Amino acid sequence: MLLQVIPTSLWLSLLLPLWTTAADPGIPDYVLKYAPLVFLDVNELYFPSDIGAQIPNTHLDLNFTPVAEPRNTDLTNLSDLNQAGGNCTTDDFDACPLYLTFNGNITSDPPWLHGVVPDSVGATNGAISCAVVVTDHGDGIVDAYYFYFYAFNLGLVIQGAGIPPEFAGRVAGNHLGDWEHTMTRFKNGQPQTIWFSAHDSGNVYTYDALSKNGTRHIVYSALGGHPNYPIPGIHSRNETVIILNDTTSAGPLWDPVRSAYFYTFTPTSSTNGTFRAAGSTPDAPIDWLYFLGRWGDKQYNASNPIQFNFLNLEHTWDDGPTGPLDKDLNRTETCPDRVSPCPTTTKLPTITGDPTPSQTVARTKTATVSSTTSELPASSSQGGAASSTPSGGYGPHPVYVSRPALYALGASFLWL
Ligand SMILES: *[C@@H]1O[C@H](CO)[C@@H](O)[C@H](O)[C@H]1NC(C)=O
Ligand SMILES: *[C@@H]1O[C@H](CO)[C@@H](O)[C@H](O)[C@H]1NC(C)=O
Ligand SMILES: *[C@@H]1O[C@H](CO)[C@@H](O)[C@H](O)[C@H]1NC(C)=O
Ligand SMILES: *[C@@H]1O[C@H](CO)[C@@H](O)[C@H](O)[C@H]1NC(C)=O
Ligand SMILES: *[C@@H]1O[C@H](CO)[C@@H](O)[C@H](O)[C@H]1NC(C)=O
Ligand SMILES: *[C@@H]1O[C@H](CO)[C@@H](O)[C@H](O)[C@H]1NC(C)=O
Ligand SMILES: *[C@@H]1O[C@H](CO)[C@@H](O)[C@H](O)[C@H]1NC(C)=O
Ligand SMILES: *[C@@H]1O[C@H](CO)[C@@H](O)[C@H](O)[C@H]1NC(C)=O
Ligand SMILES: *[C@@H]1O[C@H](CO)[C@@H](O)[C@H](O)[C@H]1NC(C)=O
Repeated sequence: MLLQVIPTSLWLSLLLPLWTTAADPGIPDYVLKYAPLVFLDVNELYFPSDIGAQIPNTHLDLNFTPVAEPRNTDLTNLSDLNQAGGNCTTDDFDACPLYLTFNGNITSDPPWLHGVVPDSVGATNGAISCAVVVTDHGDGIVDAYYFYFYAFNLGLVIQGAGIPPEFAGRVAGNHLGDWEHTMTRFKNGQPQTIWFSAHDSGNVYTYDALSKNGTRHIVYSALGGHPNYPIPGIHSRNETVIILNDTTSAGPLWDPVRSAYFYTFTPTSSTNGTFRAAGSTPDAPIDWLYFLGRWGDKQYNASNPIQFNFLNLEHTWDDGPTGPLDKDLNRTETCPDRVSPCPTTTKLPTITGDPTPSQTVARTKTATVSSTTSELPASSSQGGAASSTPSGGYGPHPVYVSRPALYALGASFLWL
């Protein structure tokens, strides 16, 4: 009875604080409920990595030359480096000549490049290896970006019947730093479509089409370069002369949201916006998301002995990638804006190649195992609990776990 006599306007004013909260929704529950689960390849060598550890392990280069930089930058002030680039803006990341560059000779392949093997629940212990960014478009449309970070992208051995003999066995596409992502578009809390980034492009699948574990759809991260696919097997990159086939399989299971920073993103222009720490990580560092440079070395030029040029189609060493802000965080379709049209696939492709490859330790070419390499604890298999091992003086990266034979495989590839 009393309720009926209270004016509507008073009820509205009582509700106002709630509405204010609703206008900044943080991380809705469904972003976790429908979060992806990522299978790494059984032969993976370069695991998800701590985002912040990339900084003390690198220095800022401009045209291959170190520039004076503020001391001790970290994730809370990385964008201080932008000013060294002179012309860096969010409108053209490609024009920004700043590169977080490996300290020393990158062919030394130190342990920190290898990241962290997910533990028995899929967490990367000691390493925050994922950034979840949520853009609320209004009208019930919410995009959740799951950004995956790997300290290193190992290229692939090129194949192809017609390739010149000097190409045989060489690797194309190494680079320091590797940002990949999937993006789930929700409508009224229900997942609709998912973008899978893969090299310079990607594909969209409906949520319904994907393989799942409960409510959570499965992503396969391919060996070495970590492009994302919805199925195991071989994925042809369809290059013209050179064949570069990605492989995926159900190796260690990574649950990215267990080791993630969470943010909301509010666009302020067509290329920039405001990030806020959100959800379970209200103290997540923010400033690094405004860094406009690359997370790895600049593509080495031909005069560098470690570089190899494959007919100007591919190189052994490529540029490091830009970060999340360059990935169209206010995109119109589920694809990034540059991928237009944006077709949606409603059925999984047919599996080609071997979806359950064995661990090809036999591919090892040299047996030089670094003394800083650690073995998994005897009791755990890959995907089991990670051990804490000092990283041998390469900075604060806390955990490194790998199998020596596979480590040697990676090291030998880097030399090609
Ligand atoms: C960045 O922040 C760290 C503390 O998180 C501080 O030690 C360092 O001096 C800061 N660097 C700059 C350039 O402000
Ligand atoms: C900025 O752009 C101008 C004009 O294109 C160029 O001359 C200058 O070298 C650039 N500065 C840097 C730091 O790249
Ligand atoms: C992008 O937006 C942020 C936050 O609004 C601002 O601090 C930053 O200066 C902007 N970056 C550029 C390059 O305009
Ligand atoms: C880096 O190491 C490789 C392999 O040992 C070597 O060929 C190259 O010359 C080294 N580069 C520099 C700049 O020392
Ligand atoms: C589903 O994921 C959980 C971990 O999140 C794992 O323990 C379980 O084995 C998975 N089930 C299948 C069928 O993959
Ligand atoms: C590469 O993938 C294509 C398409 O799946 C396949 O026809 C070809 O046999 C593969 N090549 C190798 C060497 O696996
Ligand atoms: C490969 O590229 C050709 C030419 O661009 C295209 O017609 C074909 O559909 C592509 N195949 C795949 C599997 O992407
Ligand atoms: C974000 O995208 C929407 C739809 O594409 C567009 O209408 C809006 O202007 C964009 N916001 C900003 C700040 O550019
Ligand atoms: C090629 O790389 C070397 C460093 O490895 C650098 O000194 C030189 O300026 C580069 N040349 C060009 C044309 O960029």
